[in-house]
Amino acid sequence: MLPINLLKTSTFRLAVLYLGLFAASAIMLLAYVYWNTAGFLVRQTDEAVQAEITGLAEQYAQGGLPLLVHTVIQRSRDPGSSLYLVLDPGGRVLAGNLDVRPTGEPGADGWMDFIYSRKGLDGVELKAARARAFVLAEGFYLLVGRDVQERREIESLITNALIWAIVLTLMLGLSGGLFMSRNMLARVDEINKSSVEIMGGDLSRRLPIAGTGDELDQLGRNLNAMLDQIEALMIGMRQVTDNVAHDLRSPLNRMRNRLEVTLLNDMSPDEYRNVLERTIGEADHLLTTFNALLMIARAEAGSLRESMTNVDPAAIARDAAELYEPVAEESGFAIHVTAEEGLLVRGNRELLSQVLTNLIDNAIKHGGQAGNAEGDTSSIDIAVALNEDGRVNMSVSDHGVGIPEHQYGRVLERFVRLEASRNTPGSGLGLSLAAAVARLHGGRIDFTNNEPGLKVMVSLPAVAA
Ligand SMILES: Nc1ncnc2c1ncn2[C@@H]1O[C@H](COP(=O)(O)OP(=O)(O)OP(=O)(O)O)[C@@H](O)[C@H]1O
Ligand SMILES: [Mg+2]
Repeated sequence: MLPINLLKTSTFRLAVLYLGLFAASAIMLLAYVYWNTAGFLVRQTDEAVQAEITGLAEQYAQGGLPLLVHTVIQRSRDPGSSLYLVLDPGGRVLAGNLDVRPTGEPGADGWMDFIYSRKGLDGVELKAARARAFVLAEGFYLLVGRDVQERREIESLITNALIWAIVLTLMLGLSGGLFMSRNMLARVDEINKSSVEIMGGDLSRRLPIAGTGDELDQLGRNLNAMLDQIEALMIGMRQVTDNVAHDLRSPLNRMRNRLEVTLLNDMSPDEYRNVLERTIGEADHLLTTFNALLMIARAEAGSLRESMTNVDPAAIARDAAELYEPVAEESGFAIHVTAEEGLLVRGNRELLSQVLTNLIDNAIKHGGQAGNAEGDTSSIDIAVALNEDGRVNMSVSDHGVGIPEHQYGRVLERFVRLEASRNTPGSGLGLSLAAAVARLHGGRIDFTNNEPGLKVMVSLPAVAA
């Protein structure tokens, strides 16, 4: 499976492409080396022969055939690689160190390559030679050349070495490319395997990160971040369904049972009306709980982040206060708003308003002992201000019983209601929603003792105006 896989990978194709480029430049380099070594030898031989021909031509011009023959006889005595031959028109050897006129025709450039035999110490040797031949006046024949046996051997040594160099380069490049792409492939395989497992339902698994910081790592990190988000959404969903199952089912059951019992008994219309009114009240409560749960889930899912706009916290505070004014008055509270103008936070207006109304609702509901016998009204103070570290603080303070310090963390949990509030209506979700919304906006919720009472502060990052 692996080799076929390997050929299909883009890494491998890239490796082959690089190998091609690499090989091409290596071959060009080696060709240059060849030109300067073996090619140089060839050119040097030819130039030496050419120089000799020029020399002999001068002799011939000066002294005619006799001087030429004389010079050839003299030069032929020197042991060396020069070859000469002068023949008369009848083909007899007049001078030179070759025995016979070599067979073979000269090439287009006038040079001929041939094999000649030479008697050595250990018998007759066949050797390679290269020469030019001329027909002189009256049919005399002159050949000037060089023994190139040794040169040919050097040349083939060089050529062999260069060929091996190319083969080695190709092999190294290919195996390097294979190694590289196989390594890459192993990592991609791992990512594939992990994603199959994740798709199989193990949402807590994450893709492996090699720690090299390369593109594959980056990809893995991004996918992991995506998985984190999906997991958080799933957990949020599950929590909502769990909560709905646990906390809405029993009140619904209770309601249903009571209605059933009511039907079994004969009752007066007034009694029936009474039961129906209670049922409507309970249904309202269920609906409120249900809405609160959904809103918490939405805030926790974080998907509302895209719909955030710049909102004015002072306006939100004033609107919420206005909305609660009648209820507060009825319960003997006066609401005071102190809001700094011109501040902006990035957020979802609906959710932020909900947070403030939840806090005001708490202050009224749990703030307690307002509107006492003397007709005093207790105050609920709403403040919006920018603090030193660039955050907008929105606070709601009351003068009621407050929350014991060790319960500060607990009241933020879902469905938590303190003992003191047993007789007030509510489902214990108001502060959970406030906390979830604060988190969604990159902020947090803090409680302080208002001595007496409670001060709840929501701090959100401010937008630079
Ligand atoms: N201003 C306050 N003063 C005293 N106790 C408070 C105050 N605000 C909240 N609490 C306590 O914290 C608990 C949790 O508050 P939370 O708003 O989450 O729920 P709730 O008000 O009881 O119900 P819900 O808001 O869902 O109608 C309350 O039941 C109450 O005991
Ligand atoms: Mg509340």
